[in-house]
Amino acid sequence: MSKIGIFYGPELGSVEKVAHVIEQKLGADKVELIAVKKADESVLERFDKLIFGMSTIGKTNWDSEYKDTDWDEFATCFGKVNWEGKKIAMYCLGDHIQYPQHFVDALGWVYDRLENTAAEVVGFCSTEEYTYEESEGIKDGQFLGLPVDEDNEADKTDVRVENWINRLINEFGF
Ligand SMILES: Cc1cc2nc3c(=O)[nH]c(=O)nc-3n(C[C@H](O)[C@H](O)[C@H](O)COP(=O)(O)O)c2cc1C
Repeated sequence: MSKIGIFYGPELGSVEKVAHVIEQKLGADKVELIAVKKADESVLERFDKLIFGMSTIGKTNWDSEYKDTDWDEFATCFGKVNWEGKKIAMYCLGDHIQYPQHFVDALGWVYDRLENTAAEVVGFCSTEEYTYEESEGIKDGQFLGLPVDEDNEADKTDVRVENWINRLINEFGF
């Protein structure tokens, strides 16, 4: 069976931590973890099942330090990829207390860059168990991937990831 590519960024923070939780739940032999900072279209092409992990550093909260995230750079290669037959599930770190009006907006940002490709984005989540005011990460009433809030709800991460992974395996054949 071909491996699942977990593309995550940035490194060293909560996004990487959750990448390891996913790795552990899927089985280390079934996945390959790749920091998007070190990846390009040739690495993406190697996988048919992909998990994209990102955090939200919202536009209205930009700090000069955060101007170019690893994903800004990585997404520039999307136009060179043949997405046919690829399934992508996304998870996104956010903080629903500090940024309730921009909760996990990055899901929407990455989705917008995949929407007109042949890739199939899977693994949407119900908004019901989350507290927030607005999010660009929602389409047709669902989060476009799994929201994770390690800043305020770290105790929920394990169950959230577990339930999501089980759905990915059952519904999408990951
Ligand atoms: C400058 C800054 C801006 C942020 N903006 C948002 C935001 O707009 N929406 C949100 O949900 N979280 C926002 N966050 C919270 C981060 O997404 C959250 O802390 C995440 O866990 C960071 O993961 P990382 O350390 O792996 O990047 C922001 C954090 C920082 C430091």
